[in-house]
Amino acid sequence: MNTEMSAPPKATVDLKGVPETLLMTLYNRSVESQRGDPILRDEKAERLIERIDYDFTRFGEGRITHPIRATVFDGWVGDFLVHHPNATVVNLGVGLSTQSERIDNGRARFVDLDLPEVIAVRRRFFEDTDRHRMIAASALDEAWMDAIDPERPAFFVAAGLLMFFEPDDVRTLLGTLVERFPGAEMAFDVIPTRFSQRSLDGKAQIADFTLPPMPWGIDYHRVSELETWHPRLSVVDKRDYTQGFRRRWGLIGWLALIPPLRNLFMGTLIHVRFRAPDGQRRDRGVSLRADGLVRHDHS
Ligand SMILES: C[S@@+](CC[C@H](N)C(=O)[O-])C[C@H]1O[C@@H](n2cnc3c(N)ncnc32)[C@H](O)[C@@H]1O
Repeated sequence: MNTEMSAPPKATVDLKGVPETLLMTLYNRSVESQRGDPILRDEKAERLIERIDYDFTRFGEGRITHPIRATVFDGWVGDFLVHHPNATVVNLGVGLSTQSERIDNGRARFVDLDLPEVIAVRRRFFEDTDRHRMIAASALDEAWMDAIDPERPAFFVAAGLLMFFEPDDVRTLLGTLVERFPGAEMAFDVIPTRFSQRSLDGKAQIADFTLPPMPWGIDYHRVSELETWHPRLSVVDKRDYTQGFRRRWGLIGWLALIPPLRNLFMGTLIHVRFRAPDGQRRDRGVSLRADGLVRHDHS
């Protein structure tokens, strides 16, 4: 009898097109997590890489952009949860992100949404609980919004998602979220227009992996133009990927201090707020009572 313990078989994951890109971001978080002084510790990503049957070497040695994005977004959502511990955090295009486990305060609700073929993969490694729920849908299909409690403060996260949409679709999505979730906040990232064009030309390459077309881009210095998309949309923070992480970038970190270079080559991490209509302020834990007094909202 063979008494040797055999490793469990690896999971086959058949994803193509945009969904396949989730394996790249997972890999990059896993590579970073294995460093001695990581930007982000993501042990679950490390374990998932071991369990999935896929040639991750095609993504090269690992890039720090995705761990940086995850860390900055964790910080923005974490701050929101300090003011709204019972909020709903909705992760659009969640892929195999572990954010809902990293930032769980024991009280918030988490909705993790992605396309059906991706949620089928995610269900092999993550479970729904009384506070964590997965939704299989397109972010562009407004029907998923009915599943979000409009009475609870909400934070929407779209990491590595919006660039894959047509500009008009991004505009419609943001406009709908502003209208339906006044007082909510959102974190998303954008790529520069130059990189968007390269992807449309089939030339956006990361090691041996060609990125799918990314039709929507906006340059760092034009991000404030998003505020013209809706009168109640405010940009509250924006960062390029080097801010706070300059040493890890080496020379690029210093070149990014030169505005024309930053605008041309750097993506931007953006934090927006959907202001409530006048008289209904629910911004950042502060709302107006019927008698006009400011109330701090710790719901
Ligand atoms: C680059 S991956 C990012 C995954 C994850 N957010 C992360 O940071 O690791 C892009 C994700 O967007 C998802 N996606 C693409 N189109 C989508 C859509 N219309 N609705 C929801 N998710 C979508 C893909 O399936 C994939 O999981």
